[in-house]
Amino acid sequence: MSTRAAILKLLSDGRFHSGTDLGRRLDVTRAAVHKGVKSLLAAGFEIHSVGGRGYRLESPLDPLDRDAILTDTGAERSYWHDRLIVLDEVDSTSQELLRRIAAGEPADGQACVAEAQTGGRGRRGRGWIATPYRNILLSLGWSYDAAPAFAAGLSLGAGVAVVRALHDAGVTDIALKWPNDVLYGDRKLAGLLVDVRGEAGGPCQIVLGIGLNVQVEPREATMIDQPWTDLRAIVGQPVDRNRLVARLLYRSREVLAGFGRSGLGTLREEWLRHHAHAGRRVRLTHGGQAHEGVAHDIDAQGALLLRDDRGAVRAFHSGEVSLRPIA
Ligand code: BTN
Repeated sequence: MSTRAAILKLLSDGRFHSGTDLGRRLDVTRAAVHKGVKSLLAAGFEIHSVGGRGYRLESPLDPLDRDAILTDTGAERSYWHDRLIVLDEVDSTSQELLRRIAAGEPADGQACVAEAQTGGRGRRGRGWIATPYRNILLSLGWSYDAAPAFAAGLSLGAGVAVVRALHDAGVTDIALKWPNDVLYGDRKLAGLLVDVRGEAGGPCQIVLGIGLNVQVEPREATMIDQPWTDLRAIVGQPVDRNRLVARLLYRSREVLAGFGRSGLGTLREEWLRHHAHAGRRVRLTHGGQAHEGVAHDIDAQGALLLRDDRGAVRAFHSGEVSLRPIA
């Protein structure tokens, strides 16, 4: 762990800590503590510095803790023990797993969670903005003995995994926007990204990336260019990120394994129960062309079935597609 991350962990209780005490506990000089605090200030953390008392973090933090996450995975602890990577900062948790998989590490059940991403990726070449240390940035690897095309409906299945995990945490009324956004009251709460690698004839490896807004601070909020919400606004109290990461691991593994046995299968019905735009008129942009119609259903591969004004139904596969409700 970097000195900066270690300082943040010690300050996470929101109490005053003197530079001398921090230096002693981390076995670094006071100058190194000062440098670490400066870098945290530059990253947007509000740290008060009071002569004679030391440093204090304005709003306390609940840092990710590998042991706490493993404990919260309960009976799955031994499964995740050798598979869960908890990082302070990384370019992208999905990139991290893709690199490991490319280097020959097994994909199945590899999980990476980070406090901050320097190059978080979203769908359609966009970035993913998240306030460091306050949100959930999680990726999971899996492999299927099938061609990459098999993974087509997986992002829908992943939405179901997130709904189940949130439900476990007491958060209900979640909606799913095709193909892979998690909404609360028409605002984006989480985004999902599925990267697929593999030979045309199989096997294939996938990395599922989950970005869940737990607490988005004003600095990042101004950079998000779509309606969004976070768990703090929904539940009105601090959220235990470690416990929620454990639930996401459990539910994602459940869904990824089930998808291997029967594809979208019964996940399709569960997805449809949460469909944000069921029966609503939508505009879908695909390859630069706009299509309007009623979002009517999804098929067994996860394609959106759109009914146009003449009653013709056309299937749209995810990929470079964007969707907006217009009624
Ligand atoms: C979207 O555009 O809605 C998908 C966002 C996916 C973001 C997550 S955060 C964890 C993982 N790492 C990344 O770089 N992206 C995904």
